Amino acid sequence: MTFKLPELPFEKKDFKGFISAEGFDYHHGKHHAAYVNNLNAAVKDNNYSGLSLEDAVKLAHKEGNMTVFNNGSQHFNHSFFWNCMKPNGGGEPDGEIAKLIERDFGSFENFKSEFSTAAAKLFGAGWAYLALNEQGKIEIMKFSNAGSPFLENKSALLTIDVWEHAYYIDHRNARPNFINLFWDYVNWNFVNKQL
Ligand SMILES: [Fe+2]
Repeated sequence: MTFKLPELPFEKKDFKGFISAEGFDYHHGKHHAAYVNNLNAAVKDNNYSGLSLEDAVKLAHKEGNMTVFNNGSQHFNHSFFWNCMKPNGGGEPDGEIAKLIERDFGSFENFKSEFSTAAAKLFGAGWAYLALNEQGKIEIMKFSNAGSPFLENKSALLTIDVWEHAYYIDHRNARPNFINLFWDYVNWNFVNKQL
């Protein structure tokens, strides 16, 4: 299987203050594209050829193939991340995710605060995720560098990229500003569809 860089599911100019068109040009067009290219080179003509993305990442994790693992996991994470935002998104969640957040975090405000803190305090590069575990509870997970909930048999619901490349163009070193603005663009419809 040849992996492909997905098109962004929105116009790049519609995330005022959060990510500029230039930010997307670099993050999607350079960083994400490089992960896809490196992954394709690393799965060529070997036992990873033909595997789905998740299967390739799981096998690489098991075998310690860090090139396939890092680039594959980053391809998954970025593809998922683009779907977690949309123009005119944000606000309070609705539907099933609203009920689960209320049940497992007490309130949306509390969840937002815990998720933002996890993302802000993650040391170095990585990802903060909201995921559904096998017991049906939702939980916040953190990953340094690459890594993803599916490796622990949990379903990804929402993520934010806190690698420096995600925010440096638009926010310089101010990671918390980037995280605060994320809440104005969260695609809760996409989150609900993952449940
Ligand atoms: Fe990134």
